[in-house]
Amino acid sequence: MDIHADRLLILDFGSQYTQLIARRVREHGVYSEILPCDVDPKRIVELAPRGIVLSGGPESTTDSGGWRIPKEVYDLDVPILGICYGMQALAQELGGRVESSDLREFGHADLVIENDESLLEGLSDTRSLSVWMSHGDRVTELPPGFAVIGSSAHAPIAAMANEERRIYGLQFHPEVTHSEGGSEILAKFAHTICGCGRDWTPENIIDDAIRQVREQVGDGKVLLGLSGGVDSSVVAALLNKAIGDQLVCVFVDNGLLRLNEGAQVMDTFAKNLGVRVIRANAEERFLAALGGEAEPEEKRKIIGWTFIEVFEEEAAKLSGVRFLAQGTIYPDVIESAGAASGKAHVIKSHHNVGGLPDNMRMSLVEPLRELFKDEVRVLGVTLGLPASMVYRHPFPGPGLGVRILGEVDKTSAEILRKADHIFIEELRTADLYDKVSQAFAVFLPVNSVGVVGDQRRYAPVIALRAVETVDFMTARWARLPHDFIERVSSRIINEIEDVSRVVYDVSSKPPATIEWE
Ligand code: XMP
Repeated sequence: MDIHADRLLILDFGSQYTQLIARRVREHGVYSEILPCDVDPKRIVELAPRGIVLSGGPESTTDSGGWRIPKEVYDLDVPILGICYGMQALAQELGGRVESSDLREFGHADLVIENDESLLEGLSDTRSLSVWMSHGDRVTELPPGFAVIGSSAHAPIAAMANEERRIYGLQFHPEVTHSEGGSEILAKFAHTICGCGRDWTPENIIDDAIRQVREQVGDGKVLLGLSGGVDSSVVAALLNKAIGDQLVCVFVDNGLLRLNEGAQVMDTFAKNLGVRVIRANAEERFLAALGGEAEPEEKRKIIGWTFIEVFEEEAAKLSGVRFLAQGTIYPDVIESAGAASGKAHVIKSHHNVGGLPDNMRMSLVEPLRELFKDEVRVLGVTLGLPASMVYRHPFPGPGLGVRILGEVDKTSAEILRKADHIFIEELRTADLYDKVSQAFAVFLPVNSVGVVGDQRRYAPVIALRAVETVDFMTARWARLPHDFIERVSSRIINEIEDVSRVVYDVSSKPPATIEWE
């Protein structure tokens, strides 16, 4: 079976929601792929999609410089759905009219369904849906052959359709979860209008990835840097299933991991899954390299370089390894493509194995390249990884190295590990772990006075940080219950002799970042 056969193509005009469109479509079992709107149109034809979605975007079709829809999109004669900018571009190019308005409509709007036999079929008993709008321009005149299928107070043409040509436009964003009925609209477009099947399932994705990996590597050996993070863990489980003992993993213990993390990784992979994992105990080496350095970016660089050195040394001990596996996921791929075309967002320069020098001469194996993070997680669980590992909060590559402010040493790392463990354990017990996006403790190298029992204590401070966020670009500090924070604080001070005081971080991002360094 070709799980990519029934694909939808999403042309990206620069909307912040483009990836969401692809994710929503995939949730309905349909493979969807994003290409920048200025891609070589030959690629669009080659992919032979069953349908095309035109995303929103920041530009205005009323400007002469606005992106146009490639002619090939119309020539393919498959259904087209334009969202926001996509709808306006369709309207303008097919003979309708778009006008700029000073009144930007942003937020909820009531969509009155004017025709529910079309894309909006069966959506609402009340004939009205609360949908998410974000636009300045709007369509004021329909192109020939189109009918209005939905309207709102500020946009009399909020949804339009040309049934004969199977071309549709929505002024609102169906991909955003607060658009009522949005997911159903995308499902309707994918299944009923484009005729796509439901082949994009975790089991099929796994089978397909296994087939591709086997084809790519033959009987060659594959090396993987296993960090214990979600992506590399899922790659390990997947490759283990695909090629068994042709896979060799290197796990670098840099002494900046969370409590028991090394043992957990070894248990999950080496013991339970039977994966060949080489554990490089490099704590001393990392701490020595970091010795005396207090500047956050320098610390990051030192940790990154040392990681590569250790990893390379371990790799050199193995003979005949021709492939290097990496946990690259779809957003990284899209972001690099977007950056190449000069449109999208700057890529994060977080260190990973991608920084390895060219002279290692290994070909890359990247079985998660097509997957979004939530799909990677589902795959992990389907492959038998523990949910507690797969649904873990993110942990930065430099680990506790950027959570011990200033100079790093073994004693601070040990104190921080214990404090962090208490915080996370209590979050799990109180059923709060999954309600926050990321939580951790930070070691502050300042001494403060406390009295514990009859003893005066003059010791460092631990800060607790918990945030709620969707994309980690902005975040709100989590309003954890006071009783809960009190319990964590008293456990940390009572159980760890070297802490005198616990504080809770009430800074949101921006202006603060999530990590303290
Ligand atoms: P900030 O602190 O920039 O963090 O608000 C945003 C997200 O990125 C993680 N983070 C890192 N991850 N290497 C990583 O792999 C790093 O150097 C790094 N710095 C921050 C952070 O934990 C949060 O999830």
